[in-house]
Order: sequence, then structure tokens, then C-alpha cells
Amino acid sequence: MAALNNTTFTTILIILLVTTPLNASSDQPQQLHRRRRPFTAIYAFGDSFTDTGNTESTSGPNAFTYVSNPPYGRTFFHHPTNRYSDGRLVIDFIAQSLSLPFLPPYRNKKMDKSFGTNFAVAGATAVDHSFFVKNNMTLNITPQSLGTELRWFNEFLESKGCRDSKNTPKQCEDVFKDALIWAGEIGANDYAYSFGTSVSGSTIQQLAIQSVAGFLQAMLEKGAKYVIVEGLPPTGCLTLSMFLASEEDRDDMGCVGSQNKLSMEHNTALQAKLNGLRKQFPQAMILYADYYSRYRSIMKDAAKYGIKEPFKACCGSGFGEYNFDVFGTCGSNTSTSCAEPSQYVNWDGVHLTEAMYKLVANSFVNGTSCNPSFSSLLEIKERRG
Ligand SMILES: *[C@@H]1O[C@H](CO)[C@@H](O)[C@H](O)[C@H]1NC(C)=O
Ligand SMILES: *[C@@H]1O[C@H](CO)[C@@H](O)[C@H](O)[C@H]1NC(C)=O
Ligand SMILES: *[C@@H]1O[C@H](CO)[C@@H](O)[C@H](O)[C@H]1NC(C)=O
Repeated sequence: MAALNNTTFTTILIILLVTTPLNASSDQPQQLHRRRRPFTAIYAFGDSFTDTGNTESTSGPNAFTYVSNPPYGRTFFHHPTNRYSDGRLVIDFIAQSLSLPFLPPYRNKKMDKSFGTNFAVAGATAVDHSFFVKNNMTLNITPQSLGTELRWFNEFLESKGCRDSKNTPKQCEDVFKDALIWAGEIGANDYAYSFGTSVSGSTIQQLAIQSVAGFLQAMLEKGAKYVIVEGLPPTGCLTLSMFLASEEDRDDMGCVGSQNKLSMEHNTALQAKLNGLRKQFPQAMILYADYYSRYRSIMKDAAKYGIKEPFKACCGSGFGEYNFDVFGTCGSNTSTSCAEPSQYVNWDGVHLTEAMYKLVANSFVNGTSCNPSFSSLLEIKERRG
């Protein structure tokens, strides 16, 4: 990805992006089955991998601006919900596993927020937007960052009378006692926006990790007790990365090696920060959700999971091996989608299919991809009441 020309750079810059507030439709699960709810609310943060409708766009000249068009949502909701997939995202499966309704997007003022809120926004960066402005990396970038999401959350907390756990302990306790904080994957956009610029991957890493750590620190100081932090997926396996990078830049999964190396290093640094936070906040339970390893295990054994196309986008209008065209991305009037999305890892070139999100979520909840495990989180929550 190092030797990108300007056009390619522009292409990368327009991934995931730009957005206006909206009125998403409310899709709730048909029924809330099962016994009790270990958590009464989820507060989620992140980018387009976690966004359940904070962005809306039906048209526009750039890539991935068609999220409000069919065939987005075709597999599960059967209409677009401004989720970047054919169906549910990881956070949707998490909510269902905890017998909670799908998380309403924060920007939708009408939806019922009594079971939590989703602050994640497509295109969001870990590092503050002003950094990208200062370095002339502003082209169409969503102005929201993790800092914006934290400000939104703070507004919400203030509405509940919670300022911090020292001055308003009772009010904060009420918010956090039974709440799960979902810190979804964030940082992938920061790296994407910096490609082809003079800002190095290691600078981005340092700033992004600092930002995520600061965000988590703020959460924990407010009184967060149960926090799950998703690492980066192997971003070098995304269709767009494969499409853009040199064919020589490959790792043992067949993905873009240089980019996956950045994701791995980011995750290593993130986990070191989590260890520090666990010592600083021993009463909080902090899980690391290992997106990278889970994705990798699926790529290494694709057939076992019913995956026939690990790289090709299901929905797009390109020709050739990736079904990807920057000027005809999923939802545009030239795009078509594949017959069986569940045989694909990738939905639209950057975001994953519901089938893939389900495999990842299942391994977080029922498998070994969280450290400590999700079941230990539930046990401790149950013991504490
Ligand atoms: C950004 O662009 C402006 C105008 O072209 C230029 O003056 C400035 O030096 C650039 N800044 C950086 C950090 O490249
Ligand atoms: C498809 O969309 C493009 C860009 O918005 C427009 O110029 C073109 O006329 C459309 N084609 C059809 C067949 O609707
Ligand atoms: C975890 O396993 C249970 C029981 O098999 C299943 O109902 C649930 O859907 C699984 N969770 C996820 C997120 O796949």
C-alpha cells in the first residue's frame, strides 16, 4: 500500500464515509426469548463495523454512499437499515445473545433508548478529526471520531445526573451497574486515511492507541464495570485492500501482508494498554475481543464454515476476481449482489456479510475469542448481581 498514486489515495479516502443524521427504521427482534437479562443496557462505540444506523446516504459520487439503498439489509431486515451489511452486525448478535433489543442509533431521536444506545458512526476515526485536517487528509472524511462519540455519551450521562464516580457516585452507579460497554473496532479508518500521505503507520498507531486508551480511561473513571474491547480485524483481507495492493504484498492468508502487519501491531499495543487499565481499575472487567485471530481462523479453514469466496465482494459492479469497482459500489444502480451471501466473507468491498459477522460474534460469545471469556463475564456479573 506504500506506493499509491493520488487517484488510489483518493479512492481509499472515500471508504466508509460521509453522512447525515437520519431517522432509521426501528427493527426489533421478533421476540425476546429466554430467562433473565444479565445486562439491562449496552452502550456501543466504533465505526461502520458497529454502526446500526447513525449514518444515512442514498446517493453521491463516492464509494459506500449507498448504504440506504437495497440490497443493503437483504438477508435479515429485508430492507436497508443503514447498517453496512446484508443483515445483522456483530453488535446485533451480541444484543440478541443478551436478550436485548437491537441497539438504536444515538442520532435517531425517536427510538426507545431504554436498553442502551449505539454511538458508533461509519467513517469514524480513533484520532481526532482535527489531526486529519491539519495534515490535509480531509477529503470527504467523516468529522466524527471516538472523541465525538465520547462527547455524545457524556451528554447522555449528564442527562442521568452522572458526572463522575467521585462527585455523583449514585447516579453513575445507576447507569453502569448493569451496563455493558462495547468498544467496537476503531482505528481501521485512521490507517486507511493515512495511506499515501507523509503520516506513517507508526505515527497513526501511536495516536490511535493513545486515543482509545484515553477513551477507555474516561469510561472507567465514570464508573464502567463491564467493558469489551474489539481489536482490529486483519484489514489487509478486505476486498478493497486486495484490490489496491500489489500482488506481491501477501501473507500466509493470501491477504495484504503490510496492512495486516499494521493491524497486528496495533492489536498488540492495544492489549498492552488493556493490561495497564486492568491494574488501574481492578473492580472493572475488561475483555479483549480478538477479531483478528477469529477472522484468521475462518480464512485458514474457509470450507469448514461454508465460505467459498474469502476475498470477492458479494455486492458490487466490478469485473474480475473481486467484483469491486470504486465507482459502482454496492447499492449503486449498476451493482448486483451474489446469490448466496453466506458463502462470502465480504459484503460490499469493505464491510462483512451477516454470515461472517455471525461467525465472529458466535466465537466471542460462545467460543474462546474473548480474553477473559464471555462466559466468565456472565459468571462474575451473576455473582455480583
Ligand atoms: C496543507 O496544505 C496547505 C495548502 O496547500 C499547505 O500550505 C500546508 O503546508 C499543508 N500542510 C501539510 C501538513 O502538508
Ligand atoms: C445511474 O446513476 C448514475 C449516477 O447517479 C446516473 O448518471 C445514471 O444515469 C444512472 N443510470 C441509470 C440506468 O439509472
Ligand atoms: C451462542 O450459543 C447459543 C446456544 O447454542 C446460540 O443460541 C447463540 O445464538 C450463540 N450466540 C451467538 C452470538 O452466535
